[in-house]
Amino acid sequence: MIPNYLVDIELDKLPVIEKDVIVIGAGIAGLFTAIHASKEHAVLLITKKSLLDSNTRYAQGGIAAVTSTDDSPQFHMQDTLNAGAGLCSTEAVSVLVHEGPAGVERLMELGTKFDEEDGKLALTKEGAHSQRRILHANGDATGYEIVRALSEQASANSNIEIWDNHFVIDLIVERGECYGVLVQLPDGQRLIVRGKATILCTGGAGQLYRYTTNPEVATSDGIAMAYRAGAAIQDAEFIQFHPTALCYPGAPRFLISEAVRGEGAVLRNIRGERFMHKYHELEELAPRDIVARAIVSEIDQTKSTFVYIDITHESPEKIKHRFPTIYEYCLKYGLDLTTDWIPVAPAMHYMMGGVKTDLHGETNINRLFACGEVSSTGVHGANRLASNSLSEAIVFGNRIIAKVAQLEPLPAMPEISTRTDRKQVMIQPVVEKRLKLQKLMLRYVGLVRHEPGLRQARLELERQLPTFDMCLEDYEQFEFANLLTCALIITEAALWRQESRGAHYREDYPQLNDEKWKKHSLQQREYGMIKERQEYV
Ligand code: SIN
Repeated sequence: MIPNYLVDIELDKLPVIEKDVIVIGAGIAGLFTAIHASKEHAVLLITKKSLLDSNTRYAQGGIAAVTSTDDSPQFHMQDTLNAGAGLCSTEAVSVLVHEGPAGVERLMELGTKFDEEDGKLALTKEGAHSQRRILHANGDATGYEIVRALSEQASANSNIEIWDNHFVIDLIVERGECYGVLVQLPDGQRLIVRGKATILCTGGAGQLYRYTTNPEVATSDGIAMAYRAGAAIQDAEFIQFHPTALCYPGAPRFLISEAVRGEGAVLRNIRGERFMHKYHELEELAPRDIVARAIVSEIDQTKSTFVYIDITHESPEKIKHRFPTIYEYCLKYGLDLTTDWIPVAPAMHYMMGGVKTDLHGETNINRLFACGEVSSTGVHGANRLASNSLSEAIVFGNRIIAKVAQLEPLPAMPEISTRTDRKQVMIQPVVEKRLKLQKLMLRYVGLVRHEPGLRQARLELERQLPTFDMCLEDYEQFEFANLLTCALIITEAALWRQESRGAHYREDYPQLNDEKWKKHSLQQREYGMIKERQEYV
């Protein structure tokens, strides 16, 4: 069984320091909540790398919010619910679409500069959006601009202390109460930080898969540590593959934004034929899961490894102005977006499920909150609508801080029950173990799944369980343990859901089955798959 702590903790031997609010992670969720919390609280923001290393930084398309008079929260809500394939929480979606516009205003007050056209915010469209409602910055560098503005604010804020290159190993949770975190410093020393509130903003889990649009830091740390601490993990089976990541020898799976299709790009198989009309009436702008599976189907039929995205109908000036980052990146590999069709294939992009929260970002553990991709607020259901994630982070970040203000002071820390018998060290290089896990997840728990494959994945993952009996020492080893934890959670949920819905496609159960499966998966460490819940739907 996965233990409650990754390492042995001897409380009386560790230094303890005190803060009001602990924020873990430095993407949009972490920076935004830290800035908001700092008005009333002393905040410690901990990131395992730097303020510029997060998934947010790589977000291209933008942030979805209703800012145009042609649009309305009802339209945004309907699009989100449609993409979510019956599993969104209507309450959470309502919060998102009504509070998103104010959140965007706040981002602008904090210095984010979104692109404008004719004196108004420039809006684009992405897959499954019925309206143009995606704000973007510097063409296709929206995430970078948000991180730039927020990290400048956070760095200049005397109420926010930033610890970069620090690794949070575990949450300190006893009897359902979170007391803070166990941190490993860059020099290997460990200490405990106590906090009235702990906010997980650790982002996603792309590194679970061989091919991902996510950076190296996306190793599911938050989900894994929350699970060890007893938090409920919801809807883990829903993994979104972005349909169009660059697929070119020697190049990373760099994101080719959905906004490229939003501006009219088409997909072609290697014979040059368009194909999306065979799969969905919205063609290239169908929901992501449909486009991604259509691409895989064409790849299989043409015995290729990629399809092409083609925006060559558009003027070179517009392409370079609207997609400067993508244009420059492709050019490094000799691919010219203005004249060439670009080879693309799906890659892991986003985890819809995560640490279950209520409408104020609170988990089932007192004083523990989750915000952004690590959380499962109920907004995304079985398939996230493009560009809803950045809005979700700011909307729920705001709500979390309102809740933190009401918390009582933190009581004294009780005895911590941890084992003290870990002696064995990890012998196999952790990079090899990580690569093996990534290949396994791609093969058996990827875009198309079936029971024998999922069982095989579980078996092979379980062979790695002795990892938790080892004396883990460095960041890479902690990350591997976190990836293993999350891989087991996802595989279990994918086995459990015997239907196809949104991003979860089972070859052996290809139909959506509302009668039996319109419900959420929910897992807790002590109980496994605990109940079949239906209250959202
Ligand atoms: C994209 O630009 O296609 C990514 C946007 C998102 O994942 O929401």
